[in-house]
Amino acid sequence: MKTLIKNATVMLPDGPSKTSVLIDGATIAEIDPAESVEADETVYAYGMHLLPGVIDAHVHMRDPGGTDKEDLRTGSMAAAKGGVTTFLDMPNTSPATISQKMLDEKLTLASVKSVVNYGFFIGATIDNIDELKKANRTPGIKIYMGSTTGDLFLKDPGMLEAIFAETKLPIAVHAEDENIISKNFEEFGMTRNVVDHSRIRTPEAEASSVHKAVALAKEYKHRLHLCHMSSALALPEFEDHDDLITAEVTPHHLFLNDSDYMNLGTLAQMNPALKSASDNAALLQALLDDQIQIVATDHAPHRFEDKCQRYPDSPSGVPGVETVLPLMLDLVHKEKCTLEDVVHWLCEGPALVWDIMEKGRIEVGYDADLVLVDMNKSVVLRGPNMQTKCRWTPFEGREVNGWPVRTWVCGKEVYREGEFDLSRPGVEVMFDHSRGGYWSGIDG
Ligand code: DOR
Ligand code: ZN
Repeated sequence: MKTLIKNATVMLPDGPSKTSVLIDGATIAEIDPAESVEADETVYAYGMHLLPGVIDAHVHMRDPGGTDKEDLRTGSMAAAKGGVTTFLDMPNTSPATISQKMLDEKLTLASVKSVVNYGFFIGATIDNIDELKKANRTPGIKIYMGSTTGDLFLKDPGMLEAIFAETKLPIAVHAEDENIISKNFEEFGMTRNVVDHSRIRTPEAEASSVHKAVALAKEYKHRLHLCHMSSALALPEFEDHDDLITAEVTPHHLFLNDSDYMNLGTLAQMNPALKSASDNAALLQALLDDQIQIVATDHAPHRFEDKCQRYPDSPSGVPGVETVLPLMLDLVHKEKCTLEDVVHWLCEGPALVWDIMEKGRIEVGYDADLVLVDMNKSVVLRGPNMQTKCRWTPFEGREVNGWPVRTWVCGKEVYREGEFDLSRPGVEVMFDHSRGGYWSGIDG
C-alpha cells in the first residue's frame, strides 16, 4: 500500500519544506517524489504541516492492574488522537514490571491492544538487580528515588549505588528526596489542603535528589535521564552534564503552577508537585537552552471520582498524552518557540535520548510514523472530549491554536478527524543502546 501526502509543509531534519512524502508499506519511501509518482491513496495536505509522530517517553497506561483508569487500548487511542505514535510506559503497574518475564508479558499485551508503537521500562527494586543486568527489549531502568503512585520507591542507598555501578542500561529517575518529603509532611501534620502538596514536595526535595543521582551517574559513568524536572532550583545540579545526563519536562510543569490549585484543587495534584510561575519560565528557558532535551507527559490517568477525594487521600497524577502536541503547537502560535523546536523536543529528542531506531524524523527509510497538523485550528480543551478513559484534563477550558488531524503509525492511518482504524496494532519499538544516547547523536 502506497500513500502520497501531497503539498504539505513537511518538517524535515534540516527545516520545513513545502513538498510531498510517499509512504510505501511501513516506511517513508520518498521525499519530494516525481509528479508522476503513483499511489493507492493521495492525501491533499496543502496548508497543513506534516510532522514526525510524537514520541511520548513517559506515560502510565495502567495496564495491567489499573484498567479502571486506562488500558493499553484506550491510552493508545488517546495517543493516536494527540499525534503521539510511540509511547514508553513506566513500570509502576500492578504487578510492577520488574523482570524480563513481566516485560515480555507487557509487550505481548501491547501487541494486541495498542494502536500506536510501544516500549516498556523495567523498574528497580531492592532485590532485582540480576534482572536489571540482563534485561532487554527495554529503553532502560526506572528508579523511584522518592515515593509516588505504586510501590517502587527504592529506599536503600546501597542498592541505588549498586544499580549505577553494576548495570548497563540507561537509568531514568524520579528524583524527589524522601527524607525531605516526609519531614515536610510531618510539619504539615494533618493537612487537608492540597496547596500544601507543593509545600511538602518542594524544590529542595527535587534538587537534593537530582544532586545524588547526578553524582552517581558521574562516578560510575552511567547514562542518566532526569524525569519531569519541575523546579529552577534543580537546574544548576546538572548544568555540567558530562554528556551522560539528559532531562525532561512535562506540559503541566511548563504551563501550570501553584496558583492553579485555586481552580483545579486536587486535579492539580501530581508528583513532583507544581511549583511557581517563575519555575514555569525557567523550565521553558532550560528547554530553549538544551539543558532540558525533551518534553514528555507523565500521562498518569486517575478516575475523576478518586481525584475528587480530599487531600491527601486524592491520588497524584494527571493525564496528558493527547494534549501535549496541541499545547506545544500553541507555544509556537504565541511565538515563544519555533515549530522546529517542538519537533526536536517531542520527536527527534526522545528518539535520541532512548536510542530508538528509525523514528523521530521524516527521512527516507525511517518508519512512516507521521502526524498531519492544522496550525490554524483553534480548540478549547474539555474533559468530556478527551479520549483517555478518565475523561478529564488539568487544562480544562484552555484554548489552543494548532491541532493534530490525521495520524499514521508505521504507514497505517490510525486516526483521522475523530475516527479510528483499530485494525492493525502498533509495533514494539527497537532500541540500539550501542548508539550512546542523546549527546552522541547530537555531536555525531
Ligand atoms: O503524579 C504522579 N503520578 N507522579 C508519578 O511519579 C506517578 C504517577 C502515577 O503513576 O500516578
Ligand atoms: Zn511518571
